[in-house]
Formats: sequence, C-alpha cells, structure tokens
Amino acid sequence: MTIAQNIIQDFRMPTVFRVGVGAFTTLVKEIEELGAKKVAIVSDKGLEKVGVVQKVLDHIKPLSIPTITYTEISGEPTFQLLKEAVLTIDAEKCDVIIGIGGGSALDVAKATAALCGKDDITSYLNGEKVVKSRAVKCILLPTTSGTGSEVTMNAIFGDEEQQVKRGIVSPVFLPDVAIIDPELTISCPARVTAASGVDAFTHAIESYIAIKATPLTKVYSEKAMKLFPSNITRAVHNGNDLDARTGMSWVSSLAGVALANAGVGAVHALAYPLGGKYHIEHGVANALLMPFVFEVIGKTCTEEMMEVASFLQLGDFKSQPSEALKAVVDYMYQLLEDLDLPTSLSELGIEEDSLPMLAEQAAKIDRLLSNTPYKLNEQKILGIYQSAFKGRVGN
Ligand SMILES: NC(=O)c1ccc[n+]([C@@H]2O[C@H](COP(=O)([O-])OP(=O)(O)OC[C@H]3O[C@@H](n4cnc5c(N)ncnc54)[C@H](O)[C@@H]3O)[C@@H](O)[C@H]2O)c1
Repeated sequence: MTIAQNIIQDFRMPTVFRVGVGAFTTLVKEIEELGAKKVAIVSDKGLEKVGVVQKVLDHIKPLSIPTITYTEISGEPTFQLLKEAVLTIDAEKCDVIIGIGGGSALDVAKATAALCGKDDITSYLNGEKVVKSRAVKCILLPTTSGTGSEVTMNAIFGDEEQQVKRGIVSPVFLPDVAIIDPELTISCPARVTAASGVDAFTHAIESYIAIKATPLTKVYSEKAMKLFPSNITRAVHNGNDLDARTGMSWVSSLAGVALANAGVGAVHALAYPLGGKYHIEHGVANALLMPFVFEVIGKTCTEEMMEVASFLQLGDFKSQPSEALKAVVDYMYQLLEDLDLPTSLSELGIEEDSLPMLAEQAAKIDRLLSNTPYKLNEQKILGIYQSAFKGRVGN
C-alpha cells in the first residue's frame, strides 16, 4: 500500500459515537446532558407513517421538555426545503435538534442545526461561505444503513434550478451525539435497505482508493468492506434479522467515518446528476454506476483491487493481479441482481440523448473527481454512462 506523503489531514468524528442494539434508549440521557430547553425532532413523512417519530416522542415525554416535530421531508431534500426547515425551526427557538431517519432527514437536521440563527443563509448554501459555528446542539439517529450522514461533515441537497445534487460541507455538521441503533433499521423496506446498503459499500471502496485516504481512514474502509458481504443479502431479504441489521449498522458507520475523512470519488460524481435531473435515489444511482465506473478507474489501482478482492473473500490474486479487478467488478454486478436493484440506466427511464448533458454536469464535480486515482474527463465519463445505459453486455 502506497502512503501519500504530501497529505496532512485531520481526522474527525462526532463527540459521542454510540453503536449497539438498544442504544436508542440513551437518547433521554443525552438530551438532559445537553441541557435542552426546547427540542425539534426532524424526520420524514415515511418515518412518521411507520411510527418512528411517535416512538421518539413517547420516549422523551417523561422529560416534559417543549418539543416540536418537523416532518415535511418527502423524497431526497432540496435547498428550498432546507431553507423552509431553517425558517420554521429557527422561529421556534429550539436549542436541540434530533434528526431521525435516513440520509435525507439527517442532512436536513444537521444543516438546520448549523444554520439556525445565521443571517443570509443563501451564502452558505451556494458555497460562498462555510458554516464555522453552531449554536443549536444536534443528535442524529440513522434508520437506514446507510449514508453514514450521522458521522460525516457533508449534507447533500437537490438544486432545483440547476437540476443537480450538491453537497455543503462543514466540520460543524458533525453532531454532538450519533446514536446508531440497529433496531431502528428493522422497519426499513427491502429496496431502501439494498440501495442504502450498497451506498455504504460505495463509501468504503471509494474512500479506500481515494487520493485523500490515509492509513487511519483505510482501517475503517477495510473493516466496512469485510463486514459487508455476510450481512447485506440477509438484511435485504430478511429485514427482521437483527444480526444482519447490526452488521450493516457497523458497515454504514465505519464507512461513513472513512467517507468523512478520506472523501469519495467518481462513482458519486457520476451519480449526482442522476439525482438532480431524474430524481433517482442516491443509493440506487451509486449501486448501478459502481461496476461501470470501477471497470475504468480500477485499472490504475491493481494493488488495491487485490486487497479489496481479499476483503470480500473473492480469492487470492497474487499470481494474477489483473484478474482481481474483474473479480471485484463481477461482484458489484452480481450484487445488483442479488439485491433486485436496477442493472442499467435505460431500465431507470434515463433517455439516451441526455447522456452528454449528464456527462457535462458530472465532469464539473471536481471535488470528487480530483479525489479519484484516475483522471476522468467528460469524454470518458460519457463512455461510462453509455456502458451503464446499455447494462452489462451478455446479461
Ligand atoms: N450526508 C452525507 O454524508 C450523505 C452521504 C450519502 C448520501 N447522503 C444523502 O442521503 C439521502 C439518501 O438517504 P437514504 O438512502 O438513507 O434514504 P432516505 O433518507 O431518502 O430514505 C428513503 C426512504 O426510506 C424510508 N425509511 C428510512 N428508514 C426507514 C425505516 N427504518 N423504516 C421505514 N422506512 C424508512 C424513508 O421514510 C424514505 O421514504 C440522499 O439525499 C443522499 O444524497 C448523504
């Protein structure tokens, strides 16, 4: 493994990072310790419907702290929705925000906590300014495994005008407390379990080969990859399997820490335009594009592909290193089939003549492309979209 010598990097995590079955019950203690006077619960419509929001309300009721709920999120959030959330919650003068949900609700919760009390929030949303401080405390509880949003410094929103998805980044997006309880993911539907689970795997593998990866971030990426194969299929096909759900909670949070500190790369860069224009779920877009992107970029990281093949128990490729990439890419394709995820862009209703526009947008996402150990230009990106449009030849 080559270690980049020119990278000096901080390593950040939430102040409290708690994982385990039953961890949810420590929420009351955390709210008390943060000295909450008024609490906002931020979640989405789906979680309200399955009773998760009520579960939080019931749990914190004995505290008798004034509480509001914000559950206007449906689908992946936009900057417009974030502005509305900040306006609503800021007006209530809450001093603790509890985000509970998948990446969508958690991103709204953490960005709202950071933006409450700020003037001119548009300048933070368009990237002119970075949020440097946060007056409102923040507790995040994921219900998918997952985006890792509870342990990252990113929050991702749809830009309706530009029809793209864009991340805003700040160290203060890390919550005060991340509580990762596998039981909260039991009700997660199979398709979301599959898509968000493969999203977590994407975080692990992309952070592992990232330009900004360090020996420390690689420990997290590696462990996430090792835990993934034995848990993902069981979690998708038997949602009540708490053992598999626990495994996936670890995959997601370990991969999230790696993503937060090493970043991700080209798979995410190509996935964002699909979310912006076609509203394809983030996890589905990543899962589908991953084999097609790795077929191209994996050629420059043979050693890492051999290591990844070993983490995934695909075999020992020391005597034939070039075969490791093929084995890893085959595994990625097979995942799509095993988890009932779409296998081509055409299947998702993407129009072939929009591929050049998608390539033009993806080629602009330098933050991610420059973190990938293979230089992808617009032409090469278009080639990847064209392959993904057709799907795997021979399938
Ligand atoms: N901040 C980050 O670091 C980061 C990283 C990756 C992705 N993201 C963002 O996260 C979002 C995607 O998040 P996601 O994949 O977790 O899905 P999601 O939050 O959009 O949720 C998908 C659906 O699943 C439902 N759901 C979630 N958990 C459930 C549960 N336990 N029981 C029943 N229903 C449940 C939700 O109600 C929703 O309808 C995207 O906007 C993506 O860009 C953020």
